[in-house]
Amino acid sequence: MIVAVIHGPNLNLLGVREPEVYGKTTLEEINGRIEELAGELGIEVMICQHNSEGDLIDAIQEAGCEADGIVINPAGYTHTSVAIHDALKAVPIPAIEVHLSNILAREDWRHRSMTAPACEGIIGGLGVDSYLLAVRGIVALVEARR
Ligand code: DQA
Repeated sequence: MIVAVIHGPNLNLLGVREPEVYGKTTLEEINGRIEELAGELGIEVMICQHNSEGDLIDAIQEAGCEADGIVINPAGYTHTSVAIHDALKAVPIPAIEVHLSNILAREDWRHRSMTAPACEGIIGGLGVDSYLLAVRGIVALVEARR
């Protein structure tokens, strides 16, 4: 099984970016934890991070051809992107949306996710564990549908 993990804009700055909100763990450390879990679960992960919307859409389309499921943190595009919603709907594989922070406990304008309705589920507020739970979730979902 192959799971694509797609990180959105500004997540390359984790560790230094608003640590009081996002914690001190870097993206590299998060990716290491994901790879470790992938080893335990016996799956492959394709991990990428992009700051621009078009690159994220390309990554979703590529995952649609190469992977069995997607874990995505669309970051700021969560709240604005019809195009990322459409890309997630356009591919024939399921996705789970992830957030490090609890977007419902933050500013009003973060309460709406444009992208979550195109996903099977959403996990947030648990820091790195949001990603790890999402990977376990997508694996269970893909297996259940086989
Ligand atoms: C985020 C939450 C978004 O509102 C924000 O724009 C991000 C990160 C999170 O992981 O908590 O960049 O997706």
